[in-house]
Amino acid sequence: MRLGQCHNFHDFRELARRRLPGPIFNYIDGAAEDETAYRRNTQAFEAVDLLPHVLRGVTDIDLSVEIMGQKLALPFYLSPTALQRLFHHQGERAVAAAAAKYGTMFGVSSLGTVSLEELRRAHATPQVYQFYFHKDRGLNRAMMQRAKEAGVDVMMLTVDSITGGNRERDKRTGFSIPMKLTIAGMLQFALKPAWGINYVTHEKFALPQLDDHVDMSGGAMSIGRYFTEMLEPTLNWDDLEEMIGEWGGKFCLKGVVHPDDAVRAAEVGCDAVILSNHGGRQLDGSRAPFDGLAEVVDRAGDRLDVIMDSGIQRGTHIVKALSLGAKAVGIGRAYLFPLAAAGQAGVERMVGLLKDEVERDMRLMGAAKVADLSRDNLRFR
Ligand code: FNR
Ligand code: LAC
Repeated sequence: MRLGQCHNFHDFRELARRRLPGPIFNYIDGAAEDETAYRRNTQAFEAVDLLPHVLRGVTDIDLSVEIMGQKLALPFYLSPTALQRLFHHQGERAVAAAAAKYGTMFGVSSLGTVSLEELRRAHATPQVYQFYFHKDRGLNRAMMQRAKEAGVDVMMLTVDSITGGNRERDKRTGFSIPMKLTIAGMLQFALKPAWGINYVTHEKFALPQLDDHVDMSGGAMSIGRYFTEMLEPTLNWDDLEEMIGEWGGKFCLKGVVHPDDAVRAAEVGCDAVILSNHGGRQLDGSRAPFDGLAEVVDRAGDRLDVIMDSGIQRGTHIVKALSLGAKAVGIGRAYLFPLAAAGQAGVERMVGLLKDEVERDMRLMGAAKVADLSRDNLRFR
């Protein structure tokens, strides 16, 4: 299977599965407990049918949107994700370059493997910095200062991860950083020698956003342990308000599910909320963002930008979310599998495929621009 034979999410997932050692593939692909939220996230889109308008004479399609004061040429962006150089040696560099090529926004994770400064220097496209709030307030302040000095456009605080999700696939393989695998996990690495050669012949693994503060040399740290031991479990609305004030720029809250929280986010000064259950990786059974989108838009959409992620694999998913009132959507695994499968060329191909899908879908819907999409185009089954 080659890059040119990948036409959608499922093809890229399969190619990534063939290329990656099992523990890494399962870290990306996996979710919490029974993975019901993970499955529901995508199934949710099937509860709604599209009602196209015909004979509208649509010629040019304008896919651009504006969120949090940032102009995006596409109504979707590349949501921040951790550890990208583990998936492909180009890591964040590939993801940022693909976002820039298509004029959309990309996120850099606190657990990113390329520095936010390097990426900011390399590209002018809007950049989000995804923040995990640590127990160490000095570390938080230093991280924010760095992001400010680097010229990051938007601060994104993720609040659904104050403790590690129960990801049983990772428990089985022993996935952690640095690697501390179970015997079964090690055997799976031995089956993918090409990945191993590539990994050891490129730049050493690092977490440059945290390097000065987190010593990972003393032993392996699992993602679950990082969340549980280093992040601040007492994080509350007062801390948020203080952080927004300290940042002083565009700010969004990622990981909101309850509509009351979206309203409160508006009250404390957030410019946007990202309706998200972290791709089903944290609280299994938490509501699929698409299922809750209309309620959040109705309650808070006049005061801040409502954005959603989790489960998006297709152009029609994006069109449905925009029709319900999302200002834009984020994708996660939909660009991570292409990254793992083929680096920058993979991410560029997938973003291009999704762009073409949205454009074609809008033409078929009779919508020339994103603002032409509305609930009039949808019927719940
Ligand atoms: C994530 N996500 C995530 N979110 C975040 O705020 N900080 C992070 O470091 C990460 N890391 C991360 C790693 C991996 C491997 C995945 C799959 C996801 C969550 C991500 O930003 C987004 O919310 C989800 O991926 C959206 O769901 P889909 O599109 O993957 O279904
Ligand atoms: C994850 C993190 C790091 O979902 O957010 O694995």
